[in-house]
Amino acid sequence: MSKLNKIALQILSDGRGILAADESNGTMTKRLDSVNVPSSPENRLLFRETLFSSDGMKDFIGGVILYDETINQTSSSKQTIPELISASGAVPGIKVDTGAKVLAGSTEEKITDGLDGLRERLQRYYNLGARFTKWRGVYNISDKYPSKLSIHSNAHALARYSALVQESGMVPIVEPEVLMDGDHSAETCLKKTSEVIKKCFEELIIHKIDLSGIILKPNMILAGTASNKKISSEEVARLTLKCLKENVPSNVPGIAFLSGGQTEIEATQNLNLISKYNDTNFIMSYSYGRALQKSALKFWSKDLKDMDGTQKIFNHRAKMCTLAAQGKWSAELETK
Ligand code: 13P
Repeated sequence: MSKLNKIALQILSDGRGILAADESNGTMTKRLDSVNVPSSPENRLLFRETLFSSDGMKDFIGGVILYDETINQTSSSKQTIPELISASGAVPGIKVDTGAKVLAGSTEEKITDGLDGLRERLQRYYNLGARFTKWRGVYNISDKYPSKLSIHSNAHALARYSALVQESGMVPIVEPEVLMDGDHSAETCLKKTSEVIKKCFEELIIHKIDLSGIILKPNMILAGTASNKKISSEEVARLTLKCLKENVPSNVPGIAFLSGGQTEIEATQNLNLISKYNDTNFIMSYSYGRALQKSALKFWSKDLKDMDGTQKIFNHRAKMCTLAAQGKWSAELETK
């Protein structure tokens, strides 16, 4: 077993998942604005530290993705944030892309930036304690999108990123996110997501990536948010498994889904069925941002000092997601 494979398995073992707490300051400001909390470095740290020091971290979370600001912060217990995360048994990770920018040649689409100086930044993050990383490519669905240009260029960037990350001794999370926005059907989502993932693996293979040392972070196969042809969780699970079976090489150890704007319950219920019907070798788990933090953030915003109350909400959500990653979740457990 390679060192990178060992890290990937450590993050996703026993139903553990990933807490995606890597919102950029811009995105975190939107999240905090939505609950009327000022977005200061202190408040961003306080909310995150509240989650990172919860009991749920020990039992359910195998990895935490951080943003540059947070990985450089120190907790109130004087531990650095990566030390606080490691103390709970989870692996610290870091978002290393610098965001999605306008794609020259197809200006309604995006290309993810961040390759310049990446080798040096990775060294610094490794020294701060990170052992895995994230890079997100983003794709829109419409009649003409995602274009061949966006599919090719984002796959190429994800592969160049992955090569540098593995060279630095860390596990790359490869995140091609096909957005839920639009009125497309689930069949269209299946077709476009399959094209995107297929191309990513073609490029990863050209760039000599050790596929046993990556984690894939895809979207689930869903109808668009504005579609009037919503599908059941059973169908989501069936189509998502079909997409992954057909396009992901079998030596990839684990798949950790993004929540992408689904509600907490939708993201949990869909993951539960994907795991229950999982007839592949892939570990199926989660790497949720909003679907792990939304209720906790709302509760916390009422009293920023109520650590216990906020942690209780987070612990419950993380437990539900971990049960779902094992196919052991049921709706009744939500109210217990
Ligand atoms: P969501 O689960 O809120 O989609 O966030 C996951 C993530 O890391 C997006 O890049």
